[in-house]
Formats: sequence, C-alpha cells, structure tokens
Amino acid sequence: MNTIIIGTGYVGLTTGIVLAYLGHEVTCVDKNPAIIESLKAGIPTIHEPGLKELLDEAKDKLRFSDTIPPLRGEGVVLIAVGTPTKDNGDADLRYVDAAAKEVAACIRADAKLVVVNKSTVPIGSARHVEGIIKRSLAQREVEATVWVASNPEFLAEGKAVHDSLYPDRVVIGASEPEAVNLLRELYAPLLEQTFSAPLQTPRPENYSLPSLITSSPTSAELSKYAANAFLATKISFINEFAGLAEHVGADITQVARAIGLDSRIGSKFLHAGIGWGGSCFGKDTQAIITTAGRYDYPMKIVDATIKVNRQQRLHVIERLQQQLKVLRGTTIGLLGLAFKGNTDDLRDAPALTLIAELHERGAVVRVHDPIAMDKAKEQYPELPVEYCEDPECLAIGCDALVIVTDWQDYKHLPLAEMKARMRGDLLLDARNLLSPVDVAEQGFAYVGVGR
Ligand code: NAD
Ligand code: UGA
Repeated sequence: MNTIIIGTGYVGLTTGIVLAYLGHEVTCVDKNPAIIESLKAGIPTIHEPGLKELLDEAKDKLRFSDTIPPLRGEGVVLIAVGTPTKDNGDADLRYVDAAAKEVAACIRADAKLVVVNKSTVPIGSARHVEGIIKRSLAQREVEATVWVASNPEFLAEGKAVHDSLYPDRVVIGASEPEAVNLLRELYAPLLEQTFSAPLQTPRPENYSLPSLITSSPTSAELSKYAANAFLATKISFINEFAGLAEHVGADITQVARAIGLDSRIGSKFLHAGIGWGGSCFGKDTQAIITTAGRYDYPMKIVDATIKVNRQQRLHVIERLQQQLKVLRGTTIGLLGLAFKGNTDDLRDAPALTLIAELHERGAVVRVHDPIAMDKAKEQYPELPVEYCEDPECLAIGCDALVIVTDWQDYKHLPLAEMKARMRGDLLLDARNLLSPVDVAEQGFAYVGVGR
C-alpha cells in the first residue's frame, strides 16, 4: 500500500522502514533536510539496534523527501511528528497542526486516504486533525475521501525495531469501518506475522499473534496516555518501595522478583533505580494531568508518580552527599548519559539532572557514554562536564563513580583498573546493574538503590 510518513524521528523512521520491509511502498518525509540527506545515503539518523540492516534490506521500497508528494489514489498517511510539552503542561500540537495542513495541501481530487495520528496526541486530536484537513479541502474545492484515525504507537526506544515487528497489540481508533479496513490491510503482515523475521531481529520464541483493538478515536487516544502513565507508575511504585527497603534493610531486587513472579503483577518495569526519563513518560503524564484538570478531575496517582520520580533523581545526589560528606571539590564520574541503555536519546535523561545538581554543588563532573557523547556535545554545547573516551579514562582522579545508564557494556567494567585510577572508592550503582559482592571484591564501597 502507498504509505507516507510525516516526521522521521524515532517513531516515524522505524515505522517507515518496518512498513517498507513488510512490502509497502513508503515515502518518509521530514522537514529537516540533514535527516533526509543522511537517510538517502543509507545512514540512519538515530541509534536503534537492527535499524540500519532493515534499511538496507528495504531500500527499494523506501523514498526519503523533505516535501510531501501529491497524494493520489488509495493510501495511508501517518503523522509521527513530535508533541512536546507546553508551559501549561499540555501537549504542544503545533507540529501536528503544521503537518496536517501540509498533508491537506497535497491531497488531490481522486484521493482515498486514511490520515493517522501516530504521534501521541491529546483527546480530541483525531477530530481536530480532521477539521484542519476538511477545511483545507473545502477551501481548495477538492473532493476527496479522507478519514482520520488514531493509531497510537507503543514502541520503546532501544528496541524500536523489535517492538514494531512484534507488537503486543495494534490499536486503531476510527469512526468509519473503511478507515479500519485500510489500516487492517496496512498492518496485515504484522497481525498475521507473514513476513520472514530479519536475522538481526528474530521473532521471539512463544510470540503469539498481536490483537487488533478497534475503538473510538477517543478511547485509542486515552489508551496511549493510560499505558505510559501505568508504566511510569509501576516504576515509581518500585522506587518508593526501594526507599523503604533502604530504611528497613531489605533488598529491593529480591522484593521485585518476589512480587513480579505473581502473574497478576508481572516482572517487567519493576527495576528500581534513578527513576524514569526519556521523551515521553514526563510529557505524557503531565499532559494527561492537564487534560483531566480541564474536567476538574485530579489524577492523584499520576501526580504522585511524577513527584516520586523527581525525588528519585535527587535521592542519588543525597546518597552521594551522605557518603562523601562534602561534594564541593570532589570529582564524580558518571557512567552513561542516554536516558536508558541502547539509545542515543538524551531527552529528559536523569544524567542531565545529575550534572546540573553536581555542578551547582561544586563538584567536577566527568562523563562517559558508549553512544550518546557526540549527541550531548552537539545538543548541549555548554554542558559543564569533561568527556572521557572509555570507563578507564573516566575513573582517573574520581572520588566516586555513578552508573547512570543501564548500558549492558557496564555490566563488564574493568573494575580493578578503574579503582586503581581513582582518588576515592565509592561506586554508586543507580541502576542496580552490578553485583554488590563482585564490586566490593574489587575494593569499592558499593551503594545501590534500595539494597
Ligand atoms: P522525534 O522528535 O524523534 O521526531 C519527530 C520528527 O518530525 C523530527 O525529525 C522533525 O524534524 C519532524 N517534523 C516535525 N514537523 C514536521 C513536518 N511538518 N513535516 C515533516 N517532518 C516534521 O519524535 P519521536 O520521538 O519519533 O516522537 C514522535 C511522536 O511519537 C511523539 O508524539 C511521541 O510522543 C510519540 N511516541 C514516541 C515514542 C518514542 O519512543 N520516541 C514512542 C511512542 C510514541
Ligand atoms: C516508553 C514506553 O515503554 C513505550 O511503550 C512508549 O511507546 C514510549 O515510552 C513512548 O510513548 O515514547 P521509552 O521511553 O522509549 O518507552 O523507554 P522505556 O523502556 O519505557 O523506559 C523509560 C524510562 O524508564 C527509562 O528511563 C528507563 O531507564 C526507565 N525504567 C524502565 C526504569 O527505571 N525501570 C524499569 O523497570 C523500566
């Protein structure tokens, strides 16, 4: 099927490449010419495992452009632009609005299209986008058939290709059956898993076919916010118990295992640490609270989730201060900048909070990240840190090391060499990534979260 993706960031690019791999003719459009240039040269602009290989395999079905082509005949247009937070907590729809206007301007008379909100957008956005498009068509006196649907995306960064190929479910919120049918056709290879799994992203064992959930646009829109709020709450919940575990002398990793094996609870997203970050949990929890506020409806649990998370980042600073007593004049080595492992994304990364706080308290901050350092230098040229090429170099002269990002590489740090280069002996494992016993054996004082 002829498919146009507007916005080629983490969601748009992954979705575009995956749909092309599944056999659709896909045009990926982005406003940023540097992105388009790089993609045309076969170089992905984001770090996602398996994406480059899939791009190579699907290249014959893919086109990249900084303008939307004329939209004729049957097809699907997926809007996947950013929806950041406005000052009042609302989702900022300016990019969605601009994309909808640009799409509308390209629709030709014979078109039969479903325009899809794949971006995470507030309740009512399907109707909002439909209004923009219908008004533009009326103004231009173009008679075309256009439906607008909500099709929220649930992929997580670092496993975006995997999540796109093997989703748990596909949610389509649409008022008209024709729109559902076109989208069912688009996703048929996923829903039926008729494609051969790429080598680098194999189909998980015991994977069962994903459910197709069809609903009203409003229910689909709310599902996305509910999913992110729930996941964020699960993490804040375990972090709150991690704090209590520190007081009573329990190990939160054992507690998480004990409760996670209850199939009603589930073991995922019970990893205590520095708290959640990333481009979505913060903005989406804030946005749903703001939406609910318009109905005078307080979202007490979501509100508490945000507060616990904010405190969790500061708790890492408090632990450092407890151990080192005075932070001014110390040198702290941060292992990891990205908001989680396997991604180069720095949006709302806990490392940025730590850097700001430590700098404010007079510490010298050294940093290492296997992937995200170039992006940090580019996006935050004033970041008050010393960049280090590898963990051994990072350790030089440090009073303490902090594991900030759960990179798998950090499970195999050359701890003895690092310890030998340090001034102090503290290792604060803000991700509970390492074994306290192994770390202590290398001469470190180990401090984890809730253990
Ligand atoms: P992103 O910032 O990585 O990418 C957005 C892209 O859209 C940018 O490259 C930008 O240049 C482009 N763009 C903006 N306006 C445009 C226009 N008018 N025409 C063409 N291109 C335009 O964003 P993202 O992380 O991919 O997120 C996109 C949406 O998906 C957001 O609403 C987000 O909440 C949601 N989402 C994100 C994730 C994730 O893991 N990142 C997962 C699920 C849902
Ligand atoms: C999250 C959701 O998992 C996706 O389903 C959703 O589509 C996406 O947001 C979105 O809407 O953007 P993402 O933010 O990419 O995906 O990454 P997650 O794996 O959810 O991690 C989010 C944050 O929580 C990270 O900082 C991670 O380190 C942290 N986390 C995760 C924990 O601290 N503990 C855990 O047990 C799990």
